[in-house]
Amino acid sequence: MLIAIITLCRKENDSVIEPHGGLLINRIAEDTERKSLLEKAAWSPSITLTSWSLSDLYLIATGAFSPLTGFMKQADYVNVLKEMRLENGTIWSLPITLSVSKEMVETLSPGDTVSLKGEDGKIYGLLQVEEMYEYSKKAEAFFVYGTVDPDHPGVQKTLEKEDYNLAGPITLLTHPEKLRENFQTPAELRTTFEELGWKSIVAFQTRNPIHRAHEYLQKTALEIVDGLLIHPLVGDTKKDDIPAPIRMKSYDVLLKNYYPKDRVMLSVFPAAMRYAGPREAVFHSLVRKNFGCTHFIVGRDHAGVGDYYGTYDAQKIFEQFSKEELGIEILAFEHAFYCITCASMATAKTCPHEANFHIHLSGTKVREMLKNGQIPPKEFSRPEVIEVLMDEMNRTNEEK
Ligand code: ADX
Repeated sequence: MLIAIITLCRKENDSVIEPHGGLLINRIAEDTERKSLLEKAAWSPSITLTSWSLSDLYLIATGAFSPLTGFMKQADYVNVLKEMRLENGTIWSLPITLSVSKEMVETLSPGDTVSLKGEDGKIYGLLQVEEMYEYSKKAEAFFVYGTVDPDHPGVQKTLEKEDYNLAGPITLLTHPEKLRENFQTPAELRTTFEELGWKSIVAFQTRNPIHRAHEYLQKTALEIVDGLLIHPLVGDTKKDDIPAPIRMKSYDVLLKNYYPKDRVMLSVFPAAMRYAGPREAVFHSLVRKNFGCTHFIVGRDHAGVGDYYGTYDAQKIFEQFSKEELGIEILAFEHAFYCITCASMATAKTCPHEANFHIHLSGTKVREMLKNGQIPPKEFSRPEVIEVLMDEMNRTNEEK
């Protein structure tokens, strides 16, 4: 009888994708534990986290960054930079670290507990100090971004950090309200997918309003899977990216008018954008696996910025890993555009016409047009989306 029950449990779990590293991490303190840890935190030395580190804390605690249980120790950090793997060999492409000043390090010892505060002064978590180590910001920038050019937004953020990393496991004591909005934790999303009966789910990462090329990728993928998770990144982005609250309104209007309600979900991914191109594409895919997705879309210049990365570098990087190790299937798409002659969206794989028949606008061009009150063509973006963006821009300008 017992054997039968065990077999049954295994069968049920088979339909759910395994988290990265095998175990979905949960470092959220509840009830009495939380109460006593909050008391402890009040008496502990504290660090004020940047918004970037606060979102890292939240994503570690909720299991989005499984198998990480805290900020990285030196052995993992160095291996991630050099090999794109944790010390134990598990694929991991970006350092997740907490930088602190030399002065702070001098007041701490391994074994100490540090309380982690937000910029609002609230205590959000605790860190059990295991290690403190000096690191080279330039070397980190070079490995992660492939450049040390301070004009690269990710490099700029790296160079602004403190000189030491504080490492050890964390515990979340309070959900950051702003990050909790429209967010479902990996465990929550996994439950939702099970309830919906979705076995294959494709995740779509974006830091932009959804345009026709995005929609083309999503709907092409949706032809072969049960459900689509639109998972916009809403943590720190660079100044000229369109702010998340405005984007959310544009997603709502698009979903309402053009997507099948029972096959699409919108939930946010409150991570900071690194603009690390290929390495970030790997990171984005592993994290979406933790949220229960089986497929991940990687299009042209995924997570890129300026011309630091080749158009398809973020797809080529996956050739270094086996499918089994990655555990999530990458759906790689070529550059998509609207072709006037085909009268449809297409890529070079499906359209025989010359580039002068193709309509495609860069993000910079679109932002420029919106700023000047010009309406981008409907072949580039659904008019309803443009309307939301224009309204919001006008409102923001009036408020200024
Ligand atoms: S990203 O920084 O989040 O990657 P963006 O929101 O522009 O930026 O892109 C979201 C996803 O759509 C990425 O996988 C990107 O590669 C893909 N993508 C964006 N525009 C196109 C396009 N015209 N053709 C193909 N893929 C695209």
